[in-house]
Amino acid sequence: MQRRSFAAAALALGASLPGLARAQAEPFKIGLILPMTGPFASTGRQIDAAVKLYLSEHGDKAGGRKIEVLLRDDAGRPDQTRQIAQEMIVNDKVAVIAGFGITPSALAVGPVATQARVPAVIMAAATSNIVSKSPFFVRTSYTLPQTATTMADWAAKNKLKKIVTLVSDYGPGLDAEKSFRDRLLLDGGQVMGQLRVPMANPDFAPYLQKVRDLAPDAVFVFIPSGPAVALMKQFTERGLDQAGIKLIGDGGVTDDDTLNEMGNTAVGVVTAFHYSAAHPSATNRKFVAAFMAANKGMRPNFMAVGGYDGMRVICTALEATHGKGTGEALVAAMKGQLFESPRGPVLIDAQTRDIVQDIYVRRVERRDGQLWNVEFDVNKGVKDSVKAD
Ligand code: PHB
Repeated sequence: MQRRSFAAAALALGASLPGLARAQAEPFKIGLILPMTGPFASTGRQIDAAVKLYLSEHGDKAGGRKIEVLLRDDAGRPDQTRQIAQEMIVNDKVAVIAGFGITPSALAVGPVATQARVPAVIMAAATSNIVSKSPFFVRTSYTLPQTATTMADWAAKNKLKKIVTLVSDYGPGLDAEKSFRDRLLLDGGQVMGQLRVPMANPDFAPYLQKVRDLAPDAVFVFIPSGPAVALMKQFTERGLDQAGIKLIGDGGVTDDDTLNEMGNTAVGVVTAFHYSAAHPSATNRKFVAAFMAANKGMRPNFMAVGGYDGMRVICTALEATHGKGTGEALVAAMKGQLFESPRGPVLIDAQTRDIVQDIYVRRVERRDGQLWNVEFDVNKGVKDSVKAD
């Protein structure tokens, strides 16, 4: 019925019906570029699974088009990300690119997206300034200033005033370091030292030793999803918990993907983050149960939610544009989307194309033999606070 009236309208406008029908019938291709191998492979595994779950739950059609996801592995290498993005746009004719496990990968596709006028949905990377680098970027993950400022406020309120920061030495780590420090100073606290560890496969031991020597009230940590188990192990081995130094941080430190492997050291660790698998909403309970059932018991983490919501944002935009799907129209239809995610309510800011969301303060607790990030406080509707280079 709908199709017939659309065809009639098209004919009345003098358009070529066979041409139009063909364009409508063609699948809508999404190029999903993720680290499926290398140090950030857990991010690829989580997002890939979430994208598949979204399509299995919502069907593989939107705006009258069949959705086809083409997955390619960039191994977390930005030169690869850029080359794959180009190939997918030129050869495979993808209408959207998405994924990007780390900041350098997202930054590498910015100029490609701008030139080809193809939306690029950031499902993982979290450095503040990425979205400002192309008008075709839209973000469904989070930003470090969102979590680090929330953590600084909590620390100061809870008498953790002398703090050492320990961050991964690249975009999101530097954002975390700066926004945590600025807010802690405002709150009357003090940063006693700023340590930076290499981005991939870091050995935390010497840095943790340094933290121990500085004897702060707490160490604030940002590391990308992946090496959290190693950090936790070395934290205990170096005796920081014995020395009474609290571990606080961005929620990647108690990553739901590996939290159960961390053992007792993780219990009591407080972090600020946008997603916990223990988030007590009906939407999240349903999401976690479905994700685990489809993936041999793997627990979804924040990367999965970034991927799941990214698919929602893309499919909703395709629906709103009635399957036409030009780059500009899709981005326009992504702006201002407001919906309930498994993490809680989220908004794609119409001005910045960045995500606005609640940031929770959580403590690791053991419940029924498993470790969970249990949310106990919330900072509502947090926008990113830094956009400069
Ligand atoms: C990033 O590179 O932006 C990034 C990667 C993993 C995280 C957070 C940020 O967990």
